[in-house]
Parts: sequence; structure tokens; C-alpha cells
Amino acid sequence: MTPIILAARSVAEKIKLEKKSEVLVVSHIDADGITSASIATFVMENLGIEYQNFFVKNLDEDILQRIGDMGAELVWYTDIGSSVKDKIEGVSNQAIITDHHTVIQSRTKSNNGRVFELNPHNFGIDGGRELSGSGITWIMAYAILGESVERLVPLAVTGAVGDLQDNENRALVGINKKIADIGESAGYVKQVTDIFYYGKETRPVYKMLQYAFDPVIPGISGNESAGIEFLTNLGVELRDDEGVWRSWVNLSGRERRLIISQIVRRILFSDCVPEDAVRVVGECYYFPLEHLGTEIHEAKEFATLLNACGRYGEAYIGLDVCLGDRGEAFRRARVLLRGHRRTLVESLDTVLRVIGIEEYGTLLYFHGGNKILDTIIGTLASMLLNSGEIPTNKPIIAFAKNTEGKIKVSARAPRPLINMGINLAQAVRIAADTVGGEGGGHSAAAGATIPEGAEDVFLREVEKIINKQLGNG
Ligand code: C5P
Ligand code: C5P
Ligand code: ZN
Repeated sequence: MTPIILAARSVAEKIKLEKKSEVLVVSHIDADGITSASIATFVMENLGIEYQNFFVKNLDEDILQRIGDMGAELVWYTDIGSSVKDKIEGVSNQAIITDHHTVIQSRTKSNNGRVFELNPHNFGIDGGRELSGSGITWIMAYAILGESVERLVPLAVTGAVGDLQDNENRALVGINKKIADIGESAGYVKQVTDIFYYGKETRPVYKMLQYAFDPVIPGISGNESAGIEFLTNLGVELRDDEGVWRSWVNLSGRERRLIISQIVRRILFSDCVPEDAVRVVGECYYFPLEHLGTEIHEAKEFATLLNACGRYGEAYIGLDVCLGDRGEAFRRARVLLRGHRRTLVESLDTVLRVIGIEEYGTLLYFHGGNKILDTIIGTLASMLLNSGEIPTNKPIIAFAKNTEGKIKVSARAPRPLINMGINLAQAVRIAADTVGGEGGGHSAAAGATIPEGAEDVFLREVEKIINKQLGNG
């Protein structure tokens, strides 16, 4: 990680943050955006600089104009910005971008040193897998404040997990992993090989298994009573002595191993692909300074809590939780989480049973219209790819109408297709450009906003580009 740290130090020296009177922190609304915002905010608080936070779904021309109009001396973009670096140069006095999205080659010449971009892609590091927005922001913070930011490693890890960067390898890799190790050495993170499902802290174990879909547990996923029977047959008590449902973290090591071994057995002796069995376990990230059995004690649950804030227009609540609020903000975040979980379950059902998934050549797609919230179609597309309910040999494109009457697009592709050369960020960006929209992202996960009515042309363009990427075009 040395070249990135050196670059971050050089940015820190040039920008002289400590001398700024007011900084605007602009961040993406998802878990990675919120954690990266909180890391930047921690820096501001530490240096005693006036600051303001601003959360955005994207950086279209109107929003950039608004940011420019706010007139901040310095704008710090976290987990967003690289795809519109040229435009940022046009509106900001001075800016730092700590982002991990695909970079675009600058179309304009030097901007007199006003915009400083720190992005792993510029160092030959895959920002889609090896470093999150929160991670690159943490590196910037480390360059400014040194070891005192070790306590923020849980936030950097949570952002990476929120972006599913641990998904393919069942562990964080690359610089993400190095940051997690730093956190572990300093006592802020515990890395444990454990069951990889969501809900280990706050869901009753049978519920965790019912909602387990990556990988699917034959006969148990989606079937509440089957999960209860499975646990009972293994002799695992469902409730503790006080009658409270036991969650995964309340089980003994022996109980956990027993359950994992039986899940693996079920997968191996079903018609699932055998590789699914190893995906049941992976590196899980726990935060020992938080209370066991709470959403903030484990990275996946923490990330989902933050998404439940940001995706419903309440990123500020998530920010407060990241900054240490365990009172009102935490309570409100938990309420939002209940709604988010319900919305995800209902929306997944709507997509599968009401809307349906269509084929379009080498693509799959669905159109959520007004039935599915635009801010969660990406999450749904990721869930669908891993659900065993749809073919996994094609990328999936999801559409939904947003509150401005435009169409939000989310695209996701399974890793084997990425290894074959598919780059969704490129395909989606070019196709969106063609129809007068804008888009970008990572090779495995990209998004766009396009005008209503342009969906067909957009699909056609994406398909054309993807075929070309695969060498078929
Ligand atoms: O904007 P950002 O970089 O934060 O978002 C990354 C997105 O990529 C997340 O929505 C995450 O769910 C998605 N992703 C995915 N599958 C992967 C890796 C990332 O769906 N294997
Ligand atoms: O919104 P969604 O989760 O589908 O986004 C997937 C990835 O594409 C994210 O990393 C997001 O930041 C990026 N994206 C983008 N430009 C857009 C929409 C999404 O770069 N207009
Ligand atoms: Zn991100």
C-alpha cells in the first residue's frame, strides 16, 4: 500500500487541510459512502475545521452546480467523484476525491492543481475488489492524522463489506485486507472464519437460515418450519433460558460447527454445484468494542443498517451512528432497518412473482417501474444473482423509475463473466451516454440514470458492447 500512502501524503501536504476555514464533504448514499463520509468527518473534527456533510445519489449536472453554488473553500468527495472529475474541475474551488470507481481519462489538461484524486485504479489496483471508498478515504485520513485513525478501521471494513468486496473470495483481499489487519492488531477488529450469512447478530438462527440465499441451503432457504426442524433435530435450542430467540453469536462453538457441517452436507448431497459448499463459510469481521448481539458488532449487519438509512434518504442518521451515536440516531437507524428488510423481502417477491425476469439476448433484465424503489434495485439485482432463482450465465440489468421521473439502472454480473472480459462500468457508461444519460461503476456492478423511454435502446447498446467485450461482436 506504500505508493498510495505516499500519494495521500503528498495530497495532504499540497492541500493543507488544517488551514481551511470550511470544507464540504460530499458522499454517496450507500454504506460505503456513509462510512467514508464519517471517516472524512472525523478528520474535520480532529483538525477543528468547520464542515458540512452532503449526501448524493449521483453527481449529475444539477447537483454539481448546487455544490459549486455552496461555495465551500474545499470540497472532499468520498466514494464518488472519479467518473465526473472533469466536471468537478469546472465547479469547485479546490477538491479532493477519494473514490474507487472506475476512473475516466481526463479529457481536459491540468487544472492548476485544484482537484486531487486518490483512486486505487490509478495505482493499478482494482477498486471493485481490493479497496473500497471507505478504504481509500481511510488511507487519506491516515496520511493526515496517523495512527489515531486505527480506531476507524471498523468503518473502512464495513464500507468494503457493504460494497460486497468480500463476496467473491469470501474474505477481504488486497489493501482492504491490509487495513483489516491493522485494525485487528490495534484491537478494533476481529477476523473470524465463520458462517457467511447475514444476520448472525440480530436474527434468530432459524430466521438467518430461512433468509440464507448465497449459497442456497437446499430444503431450508425460504422455509421457516424446515429451518426450525433442522435445528431441533441437531439438538440446538432455539431459545435461551429466558425464552429469548438465540442468534448465531449466542451459540457455542460446537453448535456453530455442527450446523455448518450439516449445511455443507446438504449442499454436497443435493444437485447444487459442489463449490457452493465452501461458500458457506468465510472471513467475518467483528468489532469487539461494540456490544455483542447488536447491528454494529459485525460488518455485514452494520453495512445493512447504514444502507437502511442512506437508501431511504436518511444518510445523516447513519453518519451519526458511525460517529458514535448509540442513542437516538441508533434507535432511528434500527427502525429504518426493520422497514428496509421488509421492503427487500417484498420487493424480491414482486420481482420474481409479479414482474418477472426477461431475457434480452445475452442479458437478463427486469423493469420495476413504480413498483420497486429505485434506490434498492441494485441490492435486489445482487440478491437475485445469488438466489439460485435465475440463470447465472448472464448479466442482469434492473430498471426502476426514480423520483425525478427518470429511469435508474443497476447492472450486476457474476464473477466468471468478469473474468471472461465483461466490464459493466464501461458498457453502462457508453450505453447511458448514447441515450443522453450518465452512468459508471465497477466491472461487476454498475449503474446509470437514463431518460424514460430509452430503456430499449439502452439494453440494445449494452448488449452490443458486452458481446464485443466477449469477443462476439
Ligand atoms: O457505489 P459503490 O461502489 O459503493 O457500490 C458498489 C456496488 O457494487 C454495491 O451496490 C454492491 O452491492 C455491488 N457489488 C455487487 N457484487 C459484487 C461486488 C459489488 O453487487 N461482487
Ligand atoms: O446504484 P447501483 O448500486 O446499481 O450502482 C452500482 C455501481 O455503479 C456503484 O458503484 C455506483 O456508485 C455506480 N454508479 C455510477 N453512476 C451512476 C449510478 C451508479 O457510477 N449513475
Ligand atoms: Zn463504494
